[in-house]
Amino acid sequence: MCGIVGFTGNKQAAPVLLDGLSKLEYRGYDSAGIAVRNGDKEPEIIKEKGKLKVLAEMTDYGRAVEGCCGIGHTRWATHGEPSAVNAHPHASDDLNVIAVHNGIIENYQELREKLMKHGYTFKSQTDTEVAVKLIDYYYKKYAPLPIEAIARSMVRIRGSYALCVMFKDYPGEIYCARKDSPMIIGIADGESYVASDVPAILKYTRSVYYIGNMEIAKLEKGAVTFYNIDSEVIEKPVTEIKWDAESAEKGGYEHFMLKEIHEQPKVIRDTINSVVTEGVVHFDSINLTDGEMQAIEQVYIVACGSAYHVGVAVQYVIEELTSLQVRVELASEFRYRKMTLNKKSLVIVISQSGETADTLAALREAKEQGIKTLGIVNVVGSSIAREADNVFYTLAGPEISVATTKAYSCQLVAGYLLALQFAKARNEITDEKYEALLQEIYSIPEKVERILEDKERLQWFSAKLINVSDSFFIGRGIDYAIGMEGSLKLKEISYIHSEAYAAGELKHGPISLIENGTIVIAVVTQTALTEKTVSNMVEVKSRGAKLMAVTTAGNYFLEDTAEFTCYVPKIEPMFAGSLSVIPLQLLSYYVSIGKGFDVDKPRNLAKSVTVE
Ligand code: G6P
Repeated sequence: MCGIVGFTGNKQAAPVLLDGLSKLEYRGYDSAGIAVRNGDKEPEIIKEKGKLKVLAEMTDYGRAVEGCCGIGHTRWATHGEPSAVNAHPHASDDLNVIAVHNGIIENYQELREKLMKHGYTFKSQTDTEVAVKLIDYYYKKYAPLPIEAIARSMVRIRGSYALCVMFKDYPGEIYCARKDSPMIIGIADGESYVASDVPAILKYTRSVYYIGNMEIAKLEKGAVTFYNIDSEVIEKPVTEIKWDAESAEKGGYEHFMLKEIHEQPKVIRDTINSVVTEGVVHFDSINLTDGEMQAIEQVYIVACGSAYHVGVAVQYVIEELTSLQVRVELASEFRYRKMTLNKKSLVIVISQSGETADTLAALREAKEQGIKTLGIVNVVGSSIAREADNVFYTLAGPEISVATTKAYSCQLVAGYLLALQFAKARNEITDEKYEALLQEIYSIPEKVERILEDKERLQWFSAKLINVSDSFFIGRGIDYAIGMEGSLKLKEISYIHSEAYAAGELKHGPISLIENGTIVIAVVTQTALTEKTVSNMVEVKSRGAKLMAVTTAGNYFLEDTAEFTCYVPKIEPMFAGSLSVIPLQLLSYYVSIGKGFDVDKPRNLAKSVTVE
């Protein structure tokens, strides 16, 4: 969602802001703006609807804007339509306070009315302008101290925010505050940076501070001071970012999505190797002991989007390997459900960003009920990583494309390893089977590589989907879970209407939508269920459907039914999802670029959904 960048140092700020914002474009946005201060001179605020390119052209790529201290923003509209007026930065009328904001201020109406009684007027429809004017109000009402004014405002504001504020009386300084929206601070020699995410500043520094919830930071050139809500100075450790700037660049690929699809063998291998040594899974780094795993009676897996689809697949695997009860829930539902949770549960939240608002809220809900929590998270230092009792880090590296691929695949293997370890800790698996299954998990990266080598065939088939308006994905068991992900991938980047159905459900409604030429994509890797799914394929084919099958090598008989068959290498069926999802990712990618869409930045979507 919204992206924030701030800089103070000795070089021109605007080019740094625009460059940083371009690295956050993946988050999704519809307008952009910057505010730059040049010492005591009046600040310049430039903002416009549309792409960053518009802003870059208005400012000669930032070169036309003087000043070494500034804040920038890409806005994903929540309150008020996308427009130059609603774009950030927002300022108090006398330019005393200028700020950018990511998040949602829930009580903005009430605060707005309060401020109007004090003579404030509002130009935009945004909640951010309310926050800016509230800070201005407290700054003027009490001692003119930025930290005090921000802290007082934080006490009044309900909702989520990452705020970057500049005060007229404090040139060269940027003040930041955070609650439930991501923000990091970077320090280099004589320079300070703030951003929503690491890629925005990685070109300039790898020394990063994670500002905590309800904390404030003051940025000066090359220095940062942190404060708690009581305005007391607090110490924070600096973290060195290990991955390099190239990891967040396209590296010769035309799009991030294609690059990330190709990175899957490596990142899956890295994720496996992070917990497996000498043929044994060790969860020391996750802090989850065998004793704790034995004591658990119920597992809840809670997540959003593709991470939820991982949960659906992993549920089957845990059930296959253990006697544990497993329930998978959408975080947006789980958090509001009146549900009595078994106290001997483990709530597993899965999230690439570690910042998804609903998933974070679900985690907090579980913790409040005294339930043990485990986060499967990709972004180090993210809110979920910090708040979960235990963290299993996926090592996907930075994922830029909005449609997830490599993080999804890493989450899937993390789930397998967890299932396997549960089985071992609870004595529900023989040593031989444990070793054999671990070998199968080890084989995934190389098998994914083989699928990627054969991608041209999929490119050819994708041409047939360019002009279709509807599609269906069917499968049973794990194949159904993978169909859900394939269907989401196709709809989110190619805008083709798509539904995933458990193949057995076809007769309960969706079959009425099948007509001549309707695309049906069947995932058929679960040996025990193959015949059943094939029957469903035959049923839709006889009603005119155009069928594609993704299946395991050896199932050549499927060519009698499907018009196009894509084979994945043989593997233990429990783990086949890691292979069958790859052709579906590629298919969506090729359809999207075939239709000429911006595959990495699909319309209306955000990489990290930090508001409800
Ligand atoms: C957005 C992304 C999806 C992702 C979902 C959950 O919708 O576009 O790719 O699966 O959020 O995000 P998370 O960061 O929690 O995994």
